[in-house]
Amino acid sequence: MKKLGVNVDHIATLRQARKGRFPDPVIAAGICEIAGCDSIVCHLREDRRHIQDRDVFALKNTVRRLNLEMATSEEIVRIALDICPAQVTLVPEKRQELTTEGGLDVSGNIEKLKDIVKKFRDKNIEVSMFVEPDIEQIEASKEAGACAVELHTGRYAEFFEKDDEDAWKNELGKIVKASEFGISKGLKVHAGHGLDYRNILPILKIPQIEEFNIGYSIICKSVFVGLHSAVKEMVDIIKNSEKP
Ligand code: PXP
Repeated sequence: MKKLGVNVDHIATLRQARKGRFPDPVIAAGICEIAGCDSIVCHLREDRRHIQDRDVFALKNTVRRLNLEMATSEEIVRIALDICPAQVTLVPEKRQELTTEGGLDVSGNIEKLKDIVKKFRDKNIEVSMFVEPDIEQIEASKEAGACAVELHTGRYAEFFEKDDEDAWKNELGKIVKASEFGISKGLKVHAGHGLDYRNILPILKIPQIEEFNIGYSIICKSVFVGLHSAVKEMVDIIKNSEKP
């Protein structure tokens, strides 16, 4: 069964514009669950530009399944171990970026990542690596002890947006190969970044991908149609794609 994780960072971004209490990502998460999503995703960034520590603790105590996106810095690892979410997704993080750029260099940091993964696995926390659709990075993720990889669909989404069909189909081919390779290694395969209501359709045809983590497009749509409707529309697209 294909699953949808909704990223609620953008709700917190709006709240932080006034540094007040509203809109609350915890309330948003509840609405996302009522609309049928399978997990809630949030990213506690080192600069705390959107999600705050108290949000992650509150989300952990409220939602059915929390997937915490996180950098591999000592401070964030310590907090994540304390929160103990069902899943963590390890991502690269740069202070200046608008959003996560590129996948994690797992092969270049394998020893450090092995240690971090072990800490999470010892607490029964599932670990997913956010990587480029690249065989070397997927192989390294397996070696580091991850149980899943999240394939970075950002480049694919950019080409799709520009209507550059050759380029997006080329990226799609990489995602297909990476998905097949991930499954052959015994990893779960997830996908995320830049996915929206249109560009997800070709990605949904890849049978190996079981989880989609989506934020921006859903929250943007929710401004006009409401959060429940925006999430439900994506849930229906994903779940209906499996019907014969
Ligand atoms: N997956 C990961 C690992 C991410 O870093 C992000 C962005 O926070 C997403 C998924 C969601 O991306 P978007 O907001 O573009 O849907």
